Amino acid sequence: MGVNSMDEIRVTGGKPLRGSVSVQGSKNAALPMMAASLLHRGVSVLRGCPKIADVYCMEEILKELGASTWWRGNDLYLDCAGADRTEVPGDKTGKMRSSVILLGAMLGRNRKGLMGYPGGCVIGRRPIDLHLYVLKKMGASIADGEGYISAVCPRLAGTEILFPKSSVGATEQGILAAVLAEGETVLCRCACEPEIVWLCRYLKKMGAKIQGEGSREIRIQGVETLSGGDMKVPADRIAAGTYLCAAAATRGKIVIENPPEGELDAFLQVYRKIGGQYEGKSGKLIADGSGVRFPLPFLETEEYPGFPTDLQSPLMAVLATIPGESHIRENIFEDRFKLAGELNKMGASVAVSGRDAWIRGNASLSGCEVKAEELRGGAALILAALAAQGSTVIKGYSFVRRGYEHICRDFAALGGIIEDTGTT
Ligand code: EPZ
Repeated sequence: MGVNSMDEIRVTGGKPLRGSVSVQGSKNAALPMMAASLLHRGVSVLRGCPKIADVYCMEEILKELGASTWWRGNDLYLDCAGADRTEVPGDKTGKMRSSVILLGAMLGRNRKGLMGYPGGCVIGRRPIDLHLYVLKKMGASIADGEGYISAVCPRLAGTEILFPKSSVGATEQGILAAVLAEGETVLCRCACEPEIVWLCRYLKKMGAKIQGEGSREIRIQGVETLSGGDMKVPADRIAAGTYLCAAAATRGKIVIENPPEGELDAFLQVYRKIGGQYEGKSGKLIADGSGVRFPLPFLETEEYPGFPTDLQSPLMAVLATIPGESHIRENIFEDRFKLAGELNKMGASVAVSGRDAWIRGNASLSGCEVKAEELRGGAALILAALAAQGSTVIKGYSFVRRGYEHICRDFAALGGIIEDTGTT
């Protein structure tokens, strides 16, 4: 992606963030809920849906299939009555990862689907073998062509499926394929991320029969039809964690008005370890980063409920402000340390070898010109810039807009000096 001057922001750092902020609706909950809406031949509503690039992209894909969509504030209406087309061009699916979970929904609704290969961040190979595995197990015949995947099946049949390894997206794929399939499907070795629980809650409101969501084994009894969904998109746990990292990096104190209940435990344990403090009070989360000063001897990312890979980069930005040596191991994706080189330009000293990164922090990072290459690393650069002395220009801001609805506005409201140079 070419980076032009429209695609950058300027941050002047060195000031502790102060104040309160509300967190957007969850990107990673909204996207599968949008795919689930395809399973009803009428109108569904996602309330409090984040207005971010990935949601707009999924909207475009659903329109390609014949759906119509409209917004009322942050409420997204999806009318899938006419969504009977079954082909999605590669130029749309290539823009993000979640497009692939539409395959199961298309099979569930129209018995076939053809789509371009999914895209997404450059944080690793991101194969889709587990997605195709679960669909084949349910009877779909899949042709994996030149950048295209086509799937067809008279009617998906429920069966017992053991995932060779757990995957958030493939678990969602299996659930979306099973809710209208014939008979019972038992998915074993499922991922347990909260977004899977939210997807199942949404589907159950539509009339799906599901048990065990949030555990390793999910049972789904297929039904004939589903009614329209209408549910609030939950608060984004990764956006909330990103904002807490901003408070830690700037040694500030913030209040999150709508914290995602019980979804940040592993992160908050680490927050305390580095010297942060927090307390829940009348449904809000008060976080005090003023005492952040302890390096982290070792932390590894894990599947939920372990420390989330999506907060690894924002945490690295915090550790880059803490003198001493911290050590992070990234177990989920193969290439999620792209941030290291940019932090080193700002005065940190991050050494990377395979899945390990060692961070020697610097209490006074200096602003300079840096470049985002993917979503969470881009957000982490904003945190580092807010902590650094002087001014930082961050190129590649469009990566950040894929997943954060108001990150510039929110940090400015917390006292951050952040200028969205020209991007709308
Ligand atoms: C989801 O991606 C999230 N994206 C990711 O968030 C998140 O990092 C990830 O789950 C892990 O929590 C959305 O929900 C849209 P996986 P997903 O399948 O489903 C490998 C963000 O920043 N794998 O659990 O793609 C895969 O390569 C994004 O918001 C296969 O080998 O994650 C990875 O190494 C980034 N074959 C591991 O499994 C497959 O068929 C976990 O991936 C699928 C995945």
